[in-house]
Amino acid sequence: MAKNKNNQAIWGARIKKSTSMAFQRIGSSIDLDKRLYKEDINVSKVHAEMLFKQKIISFKIKNKIIFGLEKIEREIRNNKFQFNEKYEDIHMNIEKRLFQIIGEDAGYLHTARSRNDQVITDFKIWIKSATHEINSKLNVIIKNTLKIAEKNVSTIMPGFTHLKNAQAVSFAHYLLVYVEMFSRDKKRFYNNLENLDENPLGVAAISGTSFNIDRDYTTKKLGFKKPTNNSIDTISDRDFVLDFLYSVSVCSMHISRIAEELIIWNSDAYNLIFLSDKIVTGSSIMPQKKNPDVLEYLRGKSGSAYGNLFSMLTILKGLPLSYFKDLQDDKEIVFKANETIINCLTILNEFIKNFSPNRKQMLNLANIGYITATDLADYLVKKHSMSFREAYKKTANVVNLAEKKKKNLSELSIEELKMVEPKLTEDVLMIFDLKNSVKSKKSYGGTSFENVKKMIRKYKKM
Ligand code: ARG
Repeated sequence: MAKNKNNQAIWGARIKKSTSMAFQRIGSSIDLDKRLYKEDINVSKVHAEMLFKQKIISFKIKNKIIFGLEKIEREIRNNKFQFNEKYEDIHMNIEKRLFQIIGEDAGYLHTARSRNDQVITDFKIWIKSATHEINSKLNVIIKNTLKIAEKNVSTIMPGFTHLKNAQAVSFAHYLLVYVEMFSRDKKRFYNNLENLDENPLGVAAISGTSFNIDRDYTTKKLGFKKPTNNSIDTISDRDFVLDFLYSVSVCSMHISRIAEELIIWNSDAYNLIFLSDKIVTGSSIMPQKKNPDVLEYLRGKSGSAYGNLFSMLTILKGLPLSYFKDLQDDKEIVFKANETIINCLTILNEFIKNFSPNRKQMLNLANIGYITATDLADYLVKKHSMSFREAYKKTANVVNLAEKKKKNLSELSIEELKMVEPKLTEDVLMIFDLKNSVKSKKSYGGTSFENVKKMIRKYKKM
């Protein structure tokens, strides 16, 4: 039997020499997976309760184990725990300490389980709570975005396609795009929880166990929906890790699109937004500068998010069943991805609270680029019963005329307009008013002020 002397590995009875220092250092994951300690201790407590309920261990031993585990939890929480890389990971570090605290009875805890099922159980529970944290950050961003949207329903700006002025929109409508993106992210993260909700505990090393365990009991106690179906699949599967990393990647991609857009808007050429001094940085040589470094940070971090997803996909590619040490890297990748997305969401939220639209410049820019041309074409269809294609041609001629005269559409006189289409009457001039243009887009999902107000109300209720 393996004696668990303090400095001996659990497998000391079989492997007579200690692992080479070089591999010990590299192969150990304790620096990373110690953050699973709460999950690991909770999983062990539930496992011990189940072993007792099934009469696999005695009441006395179960209580000793629970006592020891709770003591360990306090030690770790109070920074009194000595983590040792020699014991590889969080599971072995805790087990080793349990031996020190309660003696040889600690050896009963690992009955009918393996680190293979233990680690995925811990990890799934950890990802669940990380997902909730991300979603609450997303909620805060959505709330703060709605606050600016509320104040800018009637702020008019040009909507762009190809970065060319396209049609007039409400700035609030634009901001609600971010709300849509982040709401989809939330849903994506939540959907992952549905797939992840199967309890791995009890499949042990690979083939299940000959002990009469109760997986339904641990499933319920650990807050899962059902036990996993296949023991080999369970210890090999890291799809839930990919789902998390993919969701982080999509969310980072959204953040980077927003960041890039705001960088453009903040440029001197566009000048569409003002940034508070809280969110700009200076230059070491150019005294006049106020740079949007935070946005560039956000834009750049999508790179590392995709990198994490691809690292994990690559680790899994071609990996035969079932557990291999390769899989241990999943935690480093996920912890890194999680930390970065949390940072990004925190920074984006700070940004959203500290920028404002340059309303005057938004309107000025909206007056460039003949952005009410589509409105004129629609008017010709409605008022003069033209086909849309006919109206499109007429409108193109009006735009050509305006360009030739170096005027905006709204600066053309009715006489000039009649040169293109004699049927036109004075009321056509209203069409070139940007406000009227925005107001008219009443179709569901369109930018009319009324629609936007309704949408804001709807989101606020949600
Ligand atoms: N630290 C290990 C990991 O995260 C735990 C599983 C170890 N299992 C094994 N058979 N070596 O992958």
